Amino acid sequence: MKVMAVNGSPRKTWNTATLLTKALEGATSQGAETELIHLYDLAFTGCTSCFACKTRDGKSYGRCAVKDGLMPILKKVEAAEALILGSPIYFGNVSGEMRSFLERLLFPYFTYTDPPQSLFPRKIATGFIYTMNVTEEMMKEWGYEQVFANNQRLLQMVFGSSESLWSCDTYQFRDYAKVVADRFDPEKKARRRREVFPRDCEKALAMGARIAQNGNK
Ligand SMILES: Cc1cc2nc3c(=O)[nH]c(=O)nc-3n(C[C@H](O)[C@H](O)[C@H](O)COP(=O)(O)O)c2cc1C
Repeated sequence: MKVMAVNGSPRKTWNTATLLTKALEGATSQGAETELIHLYDLAFTGCTSCFACKTRDGKSYGRCAVKDGLMPILKKVEAAEALILGSPIYFGNVSGEMRSFLERLLFPYFTYTDPPQSLFPRKIATGFIYTMNVTEEMMKEWGYEQVFANNQRLLQMVFGSSESLWSCDTYQFRDYAKVVADRFDPEKKARRRREVFPRDCEKALAMGARIAQNGNK
């Protein structure tokens, strides 16, 4: 059982990466082999609209034909039994790199038939972890849940099953005194980090274990 995680934050040890690492720990507890990929280590673009993946009788039908740093990762997904994505929220959506990754990951498997179908050859379990500055109330008020629901729907459609987890009001800066960010109360942020973030880590751990258990269902 191979469980892959993909980090859509440029930071390799911060909120998103920490939660993904916890999720992989959960997967390991179920006997899975795991790997964490950092998207910002790779040179790649979003979908180039070449349509090689949609060309009738084409040799790349159902597969992304773009040859860049993402190619080996997309191959690994083909062989994985579970996939966990993670992204910070940047201006109300996932990071640009995660967005580009999603285009390349999903579009080749997603057919323009009516109804749409998936060309992914198996069913695998997937999950998405989001981290953000806003509180849970603001997340709801600003419609972020719609973004999460849309990604969940697409992942379910292509891969079979998907669940979402979010961590709000994250600790963003190493030292709040050094940045111009008067909107945030550093003490409140530190308290949240101490008291709530560990609970989010537990949720990520449980999610990883569940996803590893559900593998190819
Ligand atoms: C370019 C940029 C845009 C951001 N936009 C938002 C936003 O729209 N909403 C939000 O809640 N947080 C926003 N944030 C904060 C991050 O989502 C938050 O700090 C996140 O936990 C960072 O993840 P990381 O620690 O894994 O890098 C933004 C951060 C950056 C750098």
